[in-house]
Amino acid sequence: MSPDTIAAIQSRALAEIAAASDAVALAAARIRYLGKQGEVTALGEAMRNISKEDRPAFGKLLNELRAGVTDALVSRESALEAARDEAALAAVDVTLPPVRPMRGSIHPLTQLLNRAVKIFRGMGFAMAEGPDIETEWHCFDALNTPADHPARNELDTFYLPDGRLLRSHTSTVQIRAMCEQAPPLRIIAPGAAYRRDETDATHLAQFTQMEGLCVAPGISLADLKGTLEFFFCELFGDDTETRFRPHFFPFTEPSVEVDFSCHICKGKGCRICKQSGWIEIMGAGMVDPRVYAKIGYPEDLYGYAFGMGVERIAMIKHGITDLRHLYTNDLRFLAQFA
Ligand code: DAH
Repeated sequence: MSPDTIAAIQSRALAEIAAASDAVALAAARIRYLGKQGEVTALGEAMRNISKEDRPAFGKLLNELRAGVTDALVSRESALEAARDEAALAAVDVTLPPVRPMRGSIHPLTQLLNRAVKIFRGMGFAMAEGPDIETEWHCFDALNTPADHPARNELDTFYLPDGRLLRSHTSTVQIRAMCEQAPPLRIIAPGAAYRRDETDATHLAQFTQMEGLCVAPGISLADLKGTLEFFFCELFGDDTETRFRPHFFPFTEPSVEVDFSCHICKGKGCRICKQSGWIEIMGAGMVDPRVYAKIGYPEDLYGYAFGMGVERIAMIKHGITDLRHLYTNDLRFLAQFA
């Protein structure tokens, strides 16, 4: 074992490391010299056979050899890594246009609902909520809807085995609000309603309604008209007119159907308003004293209530001809409202 042997190993190792062209070749060189059975490791074991006086000098040389080989491995490794990065970057065309992230937007129905809620909140209405799964009492009995009313028919309504049902209208929230709170109250309640309708361009088994209720001293049909007129003017323009037509609902007396003047033809007659100049939009009326009686309110109260279909308003506002577009999530449709 001579210093020459050590020098020979060192120059061979450094040459091999310098020539290693990839990580695999470099790992092989590491094993060959520094591995358990590597040449440098073997020299360390050979120290045993060296005379005591030669040992320190030999040990020093051996340490230098190990450090030299280790340094060479480390620097070759980082050189190979740098070369790899450079090659990867060279393959990137920095002049290509960037991939733009897709931007989401609020669904047109939600946009409309937010707007409608904002208008009513501006007039002092508070938001109210009720469950989608309701009791028959909240959905019908308390709303003065008798057992033989068609709305209660099993073929028109989704009943659960326990007798509860998916609410067929959001008027249930009127009842919930009055049960929870003494008058005066003024609420709006947007939410889902369910009916056993065949799905087509104008019907869905699940749709959205917005219910309103105001019970306070001195409230009259004129307040209802003013409130709704303000709402339609905000939504469809300042020159929008509102009219009431007599109708019947079990829970209001008198009851009305509400029309607003067509915002497209300004009353002249067009496809949207079916040539009539008016668009029928919701049911409303003065709350029937029988409803107050069911809840235990005094019967000499005054209040109005109304309920509108939100999809229908969206269709009219945006000229949508098929209700199903609002639910099929076709981006070509939705992107028009982004
Ligand atoms: N609940 C009725 C429906 O689904 C709409 C309605 C009419 C709600 C008159 C009311 C009302 O609050 O007073 O067709």
